[in-house]
Amino acid sequence: MIKTNTEFQKEMEELAVVFYGNDFSVEIVHNEEIYNKLYEKIVVNGENFEFDYPLPEGNQLKTKSIRKRRVLYSLYMVLSKIEKKVLPWGSFTGIRPTALARNLIESGEVKDYLIVEYLQNEYAISYEKALLVSKILKNQKGIIRNDNLVDFYVNIPICPSRCVYCSFISSELSKVNNLVEKYLDCLIKEIKAVRKIITEKSLIVRNVYIGGGTPSVLTAEQLERLLGEVKFSTNEFTVECGRPDTITEEKLDVLKKCGVTRICINPQTFSNLTLKRIGRKHTKEDVFSAYSLAVEKGFKVNMDIIIGLPGEKEFTINKTINTLLDLYPNNLTIHTLSLKRGSDLFFNNECLGINNIEKILSKAEKTVMNAGYKPYYLYRQKYQLSSLENVGFYRDNDICQFNIDSMEETSTIIAVGAGAITKRVFNLENKIERQANVKFIDDYIKRIDEMIAKKQNLFNL
Ligand SMILES: C[S@@+](CC[C@H](N)C(=O)[O-])C[C@H]1O[C@@H](n2cnc3c(N)ncnc32)[C@H](O)[C@@H]1O
Ligand code: SF4
Repeated sequence: MIKTNTEFQKEMEELAVVFYGNDFSVEIVHNEEIYNKLYEKIVVNGENFEFDYPLPEGNQLKTKSIRKRRVLYSLYMVLSKIEKKVLPWGSFTGIRPTALARNLIESGEVKDYLIVEYLQNEYAISYEKALLVSKILKNQKGIIRNDNLVDFYVNIPICPSRCVYCSFISSELSKVNNLVEKYLDCLIKEIKAVRKIITEKSLIVRNVYIGGGTPSVLTAEQLERLLGEVKFSTNEFTVECGRPDTITEEKLDVLKKCGVTRICINPQTFSNLTLKRIGRKHTKEDVFSAYSLAVEKGFKVNMDIIIGLPGEKEFTINKTINTLLDLYPNNLTIHTLSLKRGSDLFFNNECLGINNIEKILSKAEKTVMNAGYKPYYLYRQKYQLSSLENVGFYRDNDICQFNIDSMEETSTIIAVGAGAITKRVFNLENKIERQANVKFIDDYIKRIDEMIAKKQNLFNL
């Protein structure tokens, strides 16, 4: 049990979860502020830890965020000492360390050449992770802070089957097959409304991403009907085709005809045993053939893998990394397994238990960098094993700008479909307004007019 007199209960809980799992609580005792001193008190299992900080100067918001940073840093130091455990991301509980670093540099608070040191000193982030953040900032070349440039996202929350680790809201095709045509009708209605907003507000669409779920679960005819409405002249147009068992030559021809430049084919692992265990109804051989077809058709390809999958040890993961490098896709994304409440694996996790995951991830990241890949975006998820991270890599100049824009929140993303969240970025005012569509396909179909009206309101602000 942790007791505190600070107001940062939620954030402290998030940090303590990494040390103790879910079976503990943080309790607010009282708030104590005396003249120009703040006495932050943290009690862990009956032992008192008191911190005496000078009150930082500046506006209230800034003061609060500095206090939060210090409280979390103190809590981290206490827990790290008690539990004899060092976390790679130290006291940083957020999901976007690169956005934090970018904001510190852009606001002039920290010089870019001092960012590694700053992240180490203020958040106890390890040197290796702080260096990774600074490398990523250098590799993110395409950010343009111009409110007239937007990205466009379409969500297809449908999959051929459910993977055991997944907690995304996405329905199995067999359960929603009778709704798919109606869903496409509504999507097209929303896309047309968005096209009107784009014309009226003189916006320019820079990048398009059709994600999910698994959009390639749609038939070739359905894909053609949908993509025929996404008529923007962009350089970058990605379609998530993650499950190779959904890819056919006919569908790839449709994507090519509709201007798609990049697709994702996600092995997750190159072990057929693991693929079976995690409920992906494809083999590594399916990945190989889908990939060669995609390369033959001239698509850029991204591949996702996950480290920490049930039953996998270091040897299997190394084999996956080596196979990935043999294939040499334009982009690759290394995820660390996140054990989320909404997933089947959360309730049945007897196969988990890899204990050197930090070392394995670090080695995997170094191996792909040595093979010529550069890291260009990074995010963390809740409940990731050892509180680690996901990193996207590119080779040559094949960056996916949409991924950067969405992770760094530097550009407006207009998103349509069930579960889609539109983020309107106001760069000058340094603020973001959001509009979330309802999450489930049946609700979305019923409430499509309301979703469109909300979107119109957001762009009339
Ligand atoms: C939104 S999913 C869509 C991808 C596509 N449906 C597929 O499965 O190939 C994007 C990626 O997130 C990763 N992912 C999903 N659930 C995860 C989890 N619980 N832990 C770590 N990575 C996860 C997977 O690598 C997946 O390819
Ligand atoms: S991992 Fe991908 S294919 Fe599997 S259930 Fe989640 S979104 Fe669907």
